[in-house]
Amino acid sequence: MYEYLKKLSSIYALRMFIDKIRDSKVLGIGTGSTVKYFIDELIRLGMLKDKKVVVSSYATHNYLYKHGIDAYTPINCNYADIYVDGLDEINANLDIIKGRGAALLWEKQLAIRSKLRIYIADYTKVNPEQYLYMKPVPIEVVPNAVYYVIEKLTILGYKPVLRIGKMKDGPIITDNGNFIIDLVYEKIQNAKQVDEEIKKINGVVETGLFPNNLVDYVIVSYPGNIVKVY
Ligand code: 5RP
Repeated sequence: MYEYLKKLSSIYALRMFIDKIRDSKVLGIGTGSTVKYFIDELIRLGMLKDKKVVVSSYATHNYLYKHGIDAYTPINCNYADIYVDGLDEINANLDIIKGRGAALLWEKQLAIRSKLRIYIADYTKVNPEQYLYMKPVPIEVVPNAVYYVIEKLTILGYKPVLRIGKMKDGPIITDNGNFIIDLVYEKIQNAKQVDEEIKKINGVVETGLFPNNLVDYVIVSYPGNIVKVY
C-alpha cells in the first residue's frame, strides 16, 4: 500500500547523500522492505562495486547475494562509514523503535559502529509526541531466560509478549539463535533510560530502542511526493 512512499524516501536519501555514499569505503545496510528499495537503487546505479558492504541480517545478506554481492556481517566488519536502515516508530525527540524484522541486535551494532546513521521511512511511522507509544519494543533474549525475563518485565509494569513464528506456533528465532519478546507499554518518555533498565535483566541481549544519540538523519516521505528531513 505504501510501497511508493518507501521507494520515495529511499531514493531521496540516496540522492541526498550520494557523494558521501560514493566516497564511503564501508557501507552498512539494514533490513526490511524500505531498505530493499534503497538497495535496488544502489544496484541500478552500480554503486556497490568496489565497496565493502556490511549488513544487519542474513535476510539482507541473502538479498544482496542473489544480486551477486557478497556482503560482510558484523563479525568481520567493525566499523562502517555510513549506515542506512528503516525504522518502525520515530517520535519528536528522534528516538526510534526498530526490530519488527527481528534484526535489532545487528542493527544496533551497526548503528553504534557507524560514523553517519541515516534512517528512511514513510509517514505512518512518525509519532509527533515527545514519547514513544505506537509500536511494541522488541527485545532479543537468550532462549533459556525467556520466562525469567517475562517475569521481570511484568514486575516492572510492562506487558511482555513472546513473538511467535509461522512454523509450529513456536517462538521466532533470530539470526543469533535467540527469541524475541515484544514489550507492550503505555508510554516511553526516556528511551535511553528504559533501554538501560531492560538490559540490566539477565538474559536480555538487546532492545529495539534506538535513542536519538544513534540517529543522525531521518528521511520521511509523505503523500503528495513530500519528503521531510529530520
Ligand atoms: C528490522 C527493522 C526494520 O528496519 C523495520 O522493521 C522497518 O521495516 P520496513 O521497512 O519493512 O517497514 O527494524 O528489524
